Amino acid sequence: MAETLFFSSTSKDKRYAELLPQLQALIETEENPIANMANFCAALKEAFGWFWIGFYMVAGEELILGPFQGPVACTRIAKSKGVCGTAWAQEKTILVEDVEAFPGHIACSALSKSEIVVPLIKNGAVIGVLDIDSTELATFDLLDQTQLEKICQWSVSYTHLTLPTNRE
Ligand code: SME
Repeated sequence: MAETLFFSSTSKDKRYAELLPQLQALIETEENPIANMANFCAALKEAFGWFWIGFYMVAGEELILGPFQGPVACTRIAKSKGVCGTAWAQEKTILVEDVEAFPGHIACSALSKSEIVVPLIKNGAVIGVLDIDSTELATFDLLDQTQLEKICQWSVSYTHLTLPTNRE
């Protein structure tokens, strides 16, 4: 596995195309889920430079902070609370162009202006979410949603991305 990632394109769709094979090489042979979640976040940070990228994993009736890139964040989020808890409860990706317009948004940082949360679905159940924040309004669009859902689905299905207890 090469430990240096390479990106040459400035367009978002081409960046995703460059990211995918490199991410696959990075995590597909490693069995430790924490290492994989950490590198997953770091690879997205290198590719796109977003403000905050991280995982929250389902534990009982709440989400608990997992590996991430960015400033410190809240550690626990109840089901249906905030953007993350809503994505979990509704079992679908939530795109937020302006976090101030999202009822119940949890502001871990005042710098966060827009957000996307993608649920991680394993055997039909949400086992966690990928949460990404931007300091700009309306950073994320349907291209991000499609590509991030694809990356998450592949990672959950074919790699040791998530903790063994969540993989049953
Ligand atoms: N904004 C999220 C909370 C997590 S932080 O953005 C890292 C939410 O509303 O669920």
